[in-house]
Amino acid sequence: MLLPPLDSLAGALLGAAPSYLPAPASSAAAELDALFWFVAWVCAFFLGLIIALVIAFVLKYRRRASRPEPEPSPDRATGLELLWTVIPLAIVIVMFAWSAQAYVKHVDRPSDPDALQVQVLGRRWSWWFDHPTGKGSPELHLVAGRTTELVMSSADVLHSFYVPEFRLKQDVVPGRFTRMTLTPTVAGTFQLLCTEYCGTRHSQMNALVVVHPDQASFDAWLREGRAPDDTLAALGQAVCLKRGCNACHTVSGARSVGPTFKGMWGRTEKLVGGGEARVDEAYVRESLLQPKVKLVEGFPPVMPPAPMEERELLGVIEYLKTLQ
Ligand code: CUA
Repeated sequence: MLLPPLDSLAGALLGAAPSYLPAPASSAAAELDALFWFVAWVCAFFLGLIIALVIAFVLKYRRRASRPEPEPSPDRATGLELLWTVIPLAIVIVMFAWSAQAYVKHVDRPSDPDALQVQVLGRRWSWWFDHPTGKGSPELHLVAGRTTELVMSSADVLHSFYVPEFRLKQDVVPGRFTRMTLTPTVAGTFQLLCTEYCGTRHSQMNALVVVHPDQASFDAWLREGRAPDDTLAALGQAVCLKRGCNACHTVSGARSVGPTFKGMWGRTEKLVGGGEARVDEAYVRESLLQPKVKLVEGFPPVMPPAPMEERELLGVIEYLKTLQ
């Protein structure tokens, strides 16, 4: 960090802990903190400067009996106006460029095929996490140093995923999928908070985030007490069986009334009326709920909508991923 942390100053003044920001625990935290303190210091500097000048001018130019009546002010001072336009402009351009660069680097990260994938499901008023190999848990488990992609959805209303130590926050929106890519850097236990007001027990919508020190410890947790058939993919398969999806969609790759499920995940489909669509989470959701919106070319428009619970939908997605 280039700047002395203002929080240690504030802490010293308040006699509190040396820092009021929690200790950073993700790869994004250091730069986002530096950006935060840069903006805070710039604001503090100008606030102090303006207040000092206001007080100084009030004292210096106050009305006194000995002072003659003021002359009318000139109606413009081009040099001065340029100065107070160009300097703030330069400062906000620096803030913008730094923030945009940090956003691209830490928040809008490209998809990483080696990343650990965890499905996050928010509902009033709890969280559920489906980890790889299908282990579901009310706690989120991660590995220190391993990049993780969280795919988030909501079963009811708007929620928001926030772990203060990671310095990252993401809305969890009903009817669509949102993502967060993060790399935890410190092993330990953290608190996940819902930061979008979602009803009477919003304040209790917390969960534990356990960051394992290494992959071995995470793998041991994954194996611990898991029934072999409670995976999301198994749930999805059961949903498809129950609803008779296989009557029109084969899993063998053979052609039927609808496109085969085999290899469907990640494929780019040609659509009726032109255009293409990649089979991802959002596409699967739309195709289940509103099958007529994006019809794959060469197949009859006969599929009825298949509304289902959010977790069943996640199951179908995981099931499709297994049919490669
Ligand atoms: Cu969920 Cu607030």
